[in-house]
Amino acid sequence: MNIPTENPNYNYKLNPNLDAIDWDYVISLFYKIEWKHRKAEEIAAAFKNSTTTIFIFNEDKIIAFGRVVGDGRYYAQLADIVVDPDFQGQGLGKYLVTTLNNQLIDYHFVNLSAAPGADTFYKSMGWKKQTTSFIWPQGPKQLRQHCEKE
Ligand SMILES: CC(C)(COP(=O)(O)OP(=O)(O)OC[C@H]1O[C@@H](n2cnc3c(N)ncnc32)[C@H](O)[C@@H]1OP(=O)(O)O)[C@@H](O)C(=O)NCCC(=O)NCCS
Repeated sequence: MNIPTENPNYNYKLNPNLDAIDWDYVISLFYKIEWKHRKAEEIAAAFKNSTTTIFIFNEDKIIAFGRVVGDGRYYAQLADIVVDPDFQGQGLGKYLVTTLNNQLIDYHFVNLSAAPGADTFYKSMGWKKQTTSFIWPQGPKQLRQHCEKE
């Protein structure tokens, strides 16, 4: 997939030093997009356990990030694809997804769970709805938002 052109005003970092990331600021971005239930030390550990991470900065401020959770060879899942609402609509989301996906050549399964409302975003990049995936719902909200009606 073609990666969107980089904006020269921003700083793009694939697999940055995660010890240098301001995790409290990352949490504030999760709040800003209304994804709550994350703690700074837990999200830091989760990113450190990920196979690939990506961050985009405007000067020293994080404006977008994402990661791949995987086994390094066969299975990988894109997760936490987030663009600060003040910087959305500039191609940064597409940049995150295509850059991460381009790291996953020859993998057997590459997938993701889209947030409600993000279907069109992924479809616009060529992602397909998977008919064979299953989820073990982690509560009623997930059952409502991510599962077929039975
Ligand atoms: C979804 C998200 C990552 C998109 O980031 P973005 O930087 O605004 O997206 P881009 O500017 O790269 O847009 C890429 C394409 O997707 C479309 N698009 C972006 N967000 C969309 C949305 N919510 N619904 C439908 N289409 C969307 C754009 O119109 C664009 O289409 P184009 O290439 O034909 O112009 C961002 O809105 C976000 O962080 N949302 C909150 C968290 C979230 O939902 N993450 C993804 C789900 S896991």
